[in-house]
Amino acid sequence: MIMLAACSGNEAGSDPVEPAEKNDPPAEKPVEKEDEKASLEIFSWWTGAGEEEGLLALIDVFNQKHPEIEVINAAVAGGAGTNAKAVLVSRMQGGDPPSTFQVHGGAELNESWVAAGKMTPLNDFFDAEGLNDKFPQELIDLVSKDGNIYSVPVNIHRGNVLWYNQKVFDELNLKAPTTFDEFFKVADTLKEKGITPLALGDKEAWTATHLYESVLLGHLGAADYGKLWTGDLSFDDAKVKEATEIFAKMLDYVNEDHSARNWQDAAQLVADGEAAMNVMGDWAKGYFDGRGLKVGTDYGWAPTPNSNGMFVVITDTFGLPNEIDNPETVKEFLAVLASVEGQDAFNPKKGSIPARVDADVEKYDEYGKAAMEDFKTNDLGPSLAHGSAANEGFVTKVNDAMVMFVTQKNVDHFIEQLVAAAKDL
Ligand code: BGC
Repeated sequence: MIMLAACSGNEAGSDPVEPAEKNDPPAEKPVEKEDEKASLEIFSWWTGAGEEEGLLALIDVFNQKHPEIEVINAAVAGGAGTNAKAVLVSRMQGGDPPSTFQVHGGAELNESWVAAGKMTPLNDFFDAEGLNDKFPQELIDLVSKDGNIYSVPVNIHRGNVLWYNQKVFDELNLKAPTTFDEFFKVADTLKEKGITPLALGDKEAWTATHLYESVLLGHLGAADYGKLWTGDLSFDDAKVKEATEIFAKMLDYVNEDHSARNWQDAAQLVADGEAAMNVMGDWAKGYFDGRGLKVGTDYGWAPTPNSNGMFVVITDTFGLPNEIDNPETVKEFLAVLASVEGQDAFNPKKGSIPARVDADVEKYDEYGKAAMEDFKTNDLGPSLAHGSAANEGFVTKVNDAMVMFVTQKNVDHFIEQLVAAAKDL
């Protein structure tokens, strides 16, 4: 859990006030300018191809409905919120919260901001907007704590996706691997042909954690994978060790410059055919589409090895911080974000599927339609790399251990670090 200071130096009354001169005329109260436009600051980490387009499409819908409100797009670059989350912590601690901010449903929302008492419950808002039956219960649960709802989901991303360059696969007569054995066979063929089998961009360590969690899921299965986060399965279980060995072997097939690239740069290798595969959430689809590629022709997808029938759920959500002075304006935005129109403007560009159950399926391509079906029928699991499975403290420790693991591949040491970190779960 992120520890937040109980109070901050910026609170009202803490600023030094100049003593008034004896004969000064009474100070005039500053008059609020009535014609000043209300503003709304939206804080996120959506700056890349696809994700930024999604955000701008959503803002566009909002602007059409509320021309009287000025939107400030306060996005901070860095995948999975690498930089944005740090900026957010310092703003929240400094008593300067953005009007609303991107936060993953699950532990990231509930065990940090909600637990620290920084968020306003939205139950009345859900009632007033008639939203209670418009989201799957699994999502409502991810944004709720002790019976209160604290944010509005805008999407559902799938984490366990293997993306591949369709043309490279067709030329070499390869099929998307469904098991780890198939993965390594395909990877060997690609290597022989001089093509990097697996693109990785772990300049930000979360991408390696993302790959690792997909291997854990595939090797352990959804039930045991879920037990890792509740403490019912220890990280020194034999299966976790085997999964870590599989992961280490996968790292033998990645691009040499992996530590100099971010997730977009890794996806780019696949888009350009320099690498054949990449494991990434379906924001990579937003990236491919944003670059003009087409699913089925330029790129293909499959669940990551051994994870058919399983769906790692990542939901981006927005809530109402306590210490803001424009809650009604924020609620206007949340209403648009929660609407069918808002979600269907955002998600086709973002690569995600709508969080709402009644969105317009026809706005989504074959990937989106398949993801919607899979979400309904698959075993759902939380994501470690994207904040739903475990608290930020644990995620940070795993990412730190990952930096060393990717270069040293010392399985036993890595497991020891996971076991030690799991004491925080
Ligand atoms: C978010 C996505 C985002 C991705 C890359 C994930 O944590 O949920 O919305 O596109 O990170 O930045």
